[in-house]
Amino acid sequence: MSASCGAVIWMTGLSGAGKSTLADTLHRRLKDAGRASVVLDGDALRRGLTADLGFTPEDRAENLRRVAHVAALFMQQGFIVIAAVISPEHGHRRMAREIVGAGFVEVFVNAPLTVCESRDVKGLYARARRGEIPHFTGISGPFEVPLAPDVMIETDRVSVEEAVDRLLVPLIAMGCLPGESGLGKPRLAK
Ligand code: ADX
Repeated sequence: MSASCGAVIWMTGLSGAGKSTLADTLHRRLKDAGRASVVLDGDALRRGLTADLGFTPEDRAENLRRVAHVAALFMQQGFIVIAAVISPEHGHRRMAREIVGAGFVEVFVNAPLTVCESRDVKGLYARARRGEIPHFTGISGPFEVPLAPDVMIETDRVSVEEAVDRLLVPLIAMGCLPGESGLGKPRLAK
């Protein structure tokens, strides 16, 4: 086990599925355990690093290419990187995996569209339904359901704490965390 082992936990899923909540909670759990991690959140990145990009398929691909490269740089320096980005197409996730290489963990943060839409934390689904947002994932833009994610979390069925336990499993398996990390007893991932 290397104390500086890096990894990229790449969370994909609809807006409102719970990616940011899981990312922040995992980040806190790792911090409490003395393990350095960094969160790359789509909303935050789009305020700066990728503020020049929109949501066309081409812009998303460029957005995610940049995120994957930043993630890889942090990973190479021993951080556990938690990326929370919709990354709606198979090709986006494939590209990210290729850029990052070993250490990439694809996590499908899965909640039905109806659930995400009913949460509508940012009011974007209502606007998209009114036709005000083109390329809105799940409404006016596609979301290709991951076919073989490394971990799948159904956020309408499991608690945030249990979900985080499951995210620790691949990190322990990769040697990025000791099994008896004091982070709570991880249950087996689905
Ligand atoms: S990604 O598709 O390129 O991976 P990213 O995760 O960076 O998307 O950004 C998603 C966030 O942008 C959403 O959480 C939402 O707040 C906001 N957003 C604005 N317009 C759209 C849109 N057309 N589709 C999806 N999300 C959008």
